[in-house]
Amino acid sequence: MNAIPSLSAANDAVRPSQQARFPFAIVGHVDHGKSTLIGRLLHDTGSLPDGKLAELQAASDKRGGTLEWSFLLDSFQAERDQGITIDTTQIFFQTRRRPYVIIDAPGHKEFLKNAVSGVAQAQAALLVIDAAEGVREQSRRHALILQLLGLRQVAVIVNKIDLIDFDPARFQAVADEITAFLAELGLIPQAIVPISARHGDNIASRSDRTPWYDGETVVDLLDGFDAAKPATEQPLRLPIQDVFKFDHRRLVVGRIESGRVKVGDTLTFAPTGKSARVASIESWNAAPRIAAAAGQSVALTLDDELFIQRGHVAAHPERQPHLTHEAVLRLFWLDSAPLEPGDRIGLKVATAEYTVAVEGIRAVIDVDSLNRQVADRVPHNGIAEVLVRSRQLMALDLAEEFARTGRAVLTRNGDIVGGAVILGRAGEATLAVEPRHLFSPSHHVTRAARAAANGHDGAVIWLTGLSGSGKSTLAMALERELFARGRQAYVLDGDTLRSGLNSDLGFGPVARAENIRRTAEMAKLFADAGLIVIASLISPFAAERDRARAIVGENFHEVHVKADLATCEARDPKGLYARARAGEIRNFTGIDSPYEAPERPNLVLDTAEVSPEAALASLIDYVERAIAAKDSRHAARA
Ligand code: ADX
Repeated sequence: MNAIPSLSAANDAVRPSQQARFPFAIVGHVDHGKSTLIGRLLHDTGSLPDGKLAELQAASDKRGGTLEWSFLLDSFQAERDQGITIDTTQIFFQTRRRPYVIIDAPGHKEFLKNAVSGVAQAQAALLVIDAAEGVREQSRRHALILQLLGLRQVAVIVNKIDLIDFDPARFQAVADEITAFLAELGLIPQAIVPISARHGDNIASRSDRTPWYDGETVVDLLDGFDAAKPATEQPLRLPIQDVFKFDHRRLVVGRIESGRVKVGDTLTFAPTGKSARVASIESWNAAPRIAAAAGQSVALTLDDELFIQRGHVAAHPERQPHLTHEAVLRLFWLDSAPLEPGDRIGLKVATAEYTVAVEGIRAVIDVDSLNRQVADRVPHNGIAEVLVRSRQLMALDLAEEFARTGRAVLTRNGDIVGGAVILGRAGEATLAVEPRHLFSPSHHVTRAARAAANGHDGAVIWLTGLSGSGKSTLAMALERELFARGRQAYVLDGDTLRSGLNSDLGFGPVARAENIRRTAEMAKLFADAGLIVIASLISPFAAERDRARAIVGENFHEVHVKADLATCEARDPKGLYARARAGEIRNFTGIDSPYEAPERPNLVLDTAEVSPEAALASLIDYVERAIAAKDSRHAARA
């Protein structure tokens, strides 16, 4: 326990919250104009401190140029360096509607590092794109990071519109390109605003130089973002910042990230598992409260002097964080040295800091194609799914359930080197990390004997495609036809498996990978038993399908049941697309979870183009040829 360092620290922690500042991030390619936009926003909303503009003008004059808005950030930086401004990463301004905080003003070089911790708190983001240069690799990467962090409120700012002579066609081309990319990530920009940050077009007032644009200004757009509902209805998460002795009271201090707490509640502290009741909720210079909720900082006293320290998490006993030594993270890696298995890194989750070792890399995500690829290291600026293990017990929440405590900042030697969302916990990890001491007995009935009895060898016909593409229909028709021809065939259908064997799995990427792994293992056994297995699963990730192929071996045949999203959505046989669009189903393939089309499938059946009968005919034809080829190889060998 610490002695209280100063009154102001306690004051900070328990200060009653003022009108909430709306936090947002500004991201985009270097030099596309983030700093200038910030300077402009501050100026045009009248938020600059007195004398700043004159100072800025002088600095710009000295360099003999026009007013350089980005100097503003440099001057804030200089104040910070002198220790004048206390807060190092936030810039405030105010519109008529509400106050804002821009998280992580782009210090030019370190921007992304700051953004990692900053974006995690942001409720919205502006993606700035240079009208002349268009979408660049970093624009795509930043968009991907926003998506990884679960940020849904995104708008695109097409800057330097003056440099393209306010040309609506060029603007539209950039707008189309970024819209298409965002759509693949399941992000729909709330607006795409043509601006000139340097000259103030469409920042706080509408520009008469873009008469063809009838949308919002940047300020209107910001004012239109929804303030996230504080997560008061979620289970309680109170990460502990510190424990102070003060006036004979022992204050347990932290910010409530989600849920509510009231006097009399029993709280369990993870990871110790010890419980105590809330005796009081103290406020600085105000009467004690009886309850507090998400977004508020509190100082609690308890009825028992438990061992509690920074990093512990208070929750109600019935809904605690997962306690685990292992976790699967989706991370972006900013360190210049790649991340490799065996590396040790720091994992900061709310106020906790764990040291974890990288056990394995599940996939690296290609920023251009968004495909998942098998890799043995995560390169500088890479995005990947990684399994980590900690000696300490970690108290973790999954990102899909807890927006705030399901995220982490990655550190190496004290530096921020990345950010992550927590995708899964121990047991869900599908990387085999320990050698097993297993000895499989061999069958006395050989595979060849079964093939001879059946008249064909076993095989796995793996149908992959979007929901509604026609996989199940084709699978069942193929099974019937093969059966009619005296073949041994059986369909393993995703929906059916998910109501039994795989009923413990959801639709996050980790769970889907496990779904595919189990199904592939089972298909392998069925094929070994002599059956023609027809597996029908969305199986959206190329890396997992590659793993399925590796599990099954040479008798694996990948068939892409292809129909474009629009067609599948129009069919919507189960009504699931409509529900996903309405936000009732999350992680729905094609809507807010990606589908990676196979690059080299054994067969493609485009059900949007050909009739079901024709698709079935091609499929049967392919299967018969595959089996015959196999038979002739057997015959040749015999
Ligand atoms: S897979 O991605 O893991 O291969 P699988 O084929 O087993 O998926 O299951 C997909 C089926 O689950 C769909 O046909 C649909 O009926 C149902 N489903 C429910 N939620 C989702 C979702 N979020 N995304 C995709 N399918 C879903």
